[in-house]
Amino acid sequence: MNRIVKKKVLAPAVKLIEVENHLIAKKAQPGQFVILRVHEKGERIPLTISDYDREKGTVTIIFQEVGKTTTLLGRLEEGDRILDLVGPLGKPTHLEGLQRVVVVGGGLGTALVFSQVKELHRRGTKVDCIIGARNKDLIILEEEIKPYCANLYIATDDGSKGHKGFVTDVLKRLLDEGNRYDRAIAVGPLIMMKVVSNLTRQYGLPTVVSMNPIMVDGTGMCGCCRLTVGGQTKFACVDGPEFDGHLVDFDEVIKRTAMYREEEKTAMELLQRSLKEGV
Ligand SMILES: Cc1cc2nc3c(=O)[nH]c(=O)nc-3n(C[C@H](O)[C@H](O)[C@H](O)COP(=O)(O)OP(=O)(O)OC[C@H]3O[C@@H](n4cnc5c(N)ncnc54)[C@H](O)[C@@H]3O)c2cc1C
Ligand code: FES
Repeated sequence: MNRIVKKKVLAPAVKLIEVENHLIAKKAQPGQFVILRVHEKGERIPLTISDYDREKGTVTIIFQEVGKTTTLLGRLEEGDRILDLVGPLGKPTHLEGLQRVVVVGGGLGTALVFSQVKELHRRGTKVDCIIGARNKDLIILEEEIKPYCANLYIATDDGSKGHKGFVTDVLKRLLDEGNRYDRAIAVGPLIMMKVVSNLTRQYGLPTVVSMNPIMVDGTGMCGCCRLTVGGQTKFACVDGPEFDGHLVDFDEVIKRTAMYREEEKTAMELLQRSLKEGV
């Protein structure tokens, strides 16, 4: 259980691992996530299930090394085991009855929407995908996602590939050109999801976003992942992680996500020191 059967570097600091876990692979659906712990004193972190293979009994996780736990995870190699892996958690994405959908993935968000795009395609939905990153080296899964998209648009902040600018510029152009969608699905940095939601509100386009507040237990008990949606308190781990982007209080989540920045910085500095000293 939890053995890493495949590892691939997708971009600087972005890694893909395929992990053996028959129970999770059997039940996983697009939009769900796992919570894992790398070692017994480790923090529990949530990561989205990017793909699953029920026959092989594996789930694929794609993550960016941003702090202590993701850095430690990135040091595991094929054959190593992850100490605990809990899931699938969260509600699956509702993908029923959609004719045409626009999916927006910002940075690592492309990995997080991969399973939805694949499933929409399997159901016969026409999917236009917009994927973006700071530069061309940070664009991930372009070749993998392409076969499932009716149209694939790329945006980079520096213009090194595709449109020079943000994914939201491309989305605005598509909407202004008269493209009509049943739904937008946006996954990426909080600020990107906020801008997408503000834009689609003006066009009356229903929008689903995947919220990533700090999580601890993933069961709705600790209250850590709470956020306000349509004036009501929701827990991202059990009520989400997907919500109506037009109703989410993004400013509150952005503030809460930055709450432990000092502690996270200290943990990372200590880790870097111990890795350098080989402890
Ligand atoms: C439901 C869910 C699914 C997620 N799926 C993925 C995924 O598939 N791939 C992936 O790389 N990341 C994903 N994340 C974010 C991931 O959980 C965090 O990057 C991770 O917990 C950071 O742990 P760390 O110890 O390495 O870094 P920390 O030291 O905890 O944090 C380092 C930096 O990352 C930021 N950060 C911490 N937690 C989060 C968070 N939850 N969301 C956004 N920024 C955060 C901090 O503000 C800080 O700037 C997901 C989060 C949630 C809630
Ligand atoms: S992570 Fe504890 S309530 Fe959601």
